[in-house]
Amino acid sequence: MALNKQPYRGTRDFFPKDKRVRDYLFTVMTKTAESFGYESYDGPLLEEVELYKAKSGEELINEQIYSFTDRGERFVAIRPEMTPTLARMVAQVHREQSKPLRWFSIPNLMRYEKPQRGRVREHWQLNCDVFGTPGRLGEVEILQVAVELFQNYGASSSHFEILLNDRAIVDAVFKNMMKATDAQTYRLYKIVDKAKKITHEALHKMVSEVGLDTIAENIFYHYLQLSTFEGVKSFLEKNDQTEIATAFSSFVEFTEKANLTEYLKYDPTIVRGLDYYTGIVFEIFDKHPDNRRALCGGGAYANLLQIFNEDPLSGVGFGLGDVTLRDFLEVHKLLPNLEIPVNDVFVTFQEDDGLDATLKLAQSLRKNGLKIVTSLEALKFKKVFPTAEKKGVKFVTLMGSDELAKNQIQLKNLETKEQHSLDLADLEAILKIIKA
Ligand code: HAM
Repeated sequence: MALNKQPYRGTRDFFPKDKRVRDYLFTVMTKTAESFGYESYDGPLLEEVELYKAKSGEELINEQIYSFTDRGERFVAIRPEMTPTLARMVAQVHREQSKPLRWFSIPNLMRYEKPQRGRVREHWQLNCDVFGTPGRLGEVEILQVAVELFQNYGASSSHFEILLNDRAIVDAVFKNMMKATDAQTYRLYKIVDKAKKITHEALHKMVSEVGLDTIAENIFYHYLQLSTFEGVKSFLEKNDQTEIATAFSSFVEFTEKANLTEYLKYDPTIVRGLDYYTGIVFEIFDKHPDNRRALCGGGAYANLLQIFNEDPLSGVGFGLGDVTLRDFLEVHKLLPNLEIPVNDVFVTFQEDDGLDATLKLAQSLRKNGLKIVTSLEALKFKKVFPTAEKKGVKFVTLMGSDELAKNQIQLKNLETKEQHSLDLADLEAILKIIKA
């Protein structure tokens, strides 16, 4: 039986055309993260499942993780997210490092999900995280990094928005105002996380099953109606949660000073499925009606290092996936044309005897930092230009019998159609034209 040529379900082959797009996405990610002083790190593809069990949340563990027992009876998983690996690595070195610690990575992650638009089983995810920042400035900086990244792809506030909440607010509403128990709070978080994806009836049914009294239920539904920063502030103040209202307001003021206001929107349903978040939580959404989905998710976590018996060290960060990002750039026509590769010169010869001279020329041009494609065989004139177009070159060199006799080449600029006869020995003159 012949083997299947297709990749494993939910994974992708990156043919050169696709790989060019991925390289472009990653280049902008790297440049943006580095422009804020974030340092690149990486970790292993496999981790012990325990690492995820500690804090990642039940959906990831029960439904999405790729796990197996290795030959040494260790129960391991292919990384479904980077944050636990990051926390494990930071736990090893944070004592010796000056703070804040700013790190980024673009790992590939695997989750067993039903493949559909924007969801695959293997994706790459930019992770930017900062640890040990004073006050709430790390949270503001992380939002700035995310916004700057989208701006560097050519996007603006007309294309995307950041829906934001704070788990400290959600805790205050559930625990202080509604007097929910820990178990009820846990269930309410899961309900809120699903609130936008289910019908009104389904929501009411789920809430009624939590076992809250009528006052608590009313507070819950009132909370779900909140949609502005001012609204949430007065809601908290009216219900004697002034401390948390003040803390959140001062964070919002910082975001105003950082010019983030036009991107930010308060959304009570953003709580995030991962269990480790303790502070702000946010998702970046595409505003295009055909692509209303999360492009990026993140938040602040205060206690992640405690699973390694380390002192608490506050962290905040986000993960941004390559699949949803590509869809976003395509739907808004922000992706540059990467259909063909980019090269500088196609070096060809038209008589067999021209091989040695053109190979030498190609070598010299490469040593001068140019991208050179050679024909490797005598190429008829009419074949040169269609091939040159596919290779994405700006110049072509030709060497027919006349040129061969005179030890010359013809150098043609494919844009201007200008053509020069040049001595092969005069590399300087050739370079001058190409680099002009
Ligand atoms: P997450 O929300 O699970 O967060 O994933 C972040 C982003 O990764 C999503 O918004 C989406 O763009 C992309 N993504 C996730 N799953 C898939 C999938 N199956 N197919 C395609 N894209 C996907 C985290 O993973 C957190 N660890 C992020 C973080 C870093 N929080 C703090 N630091």
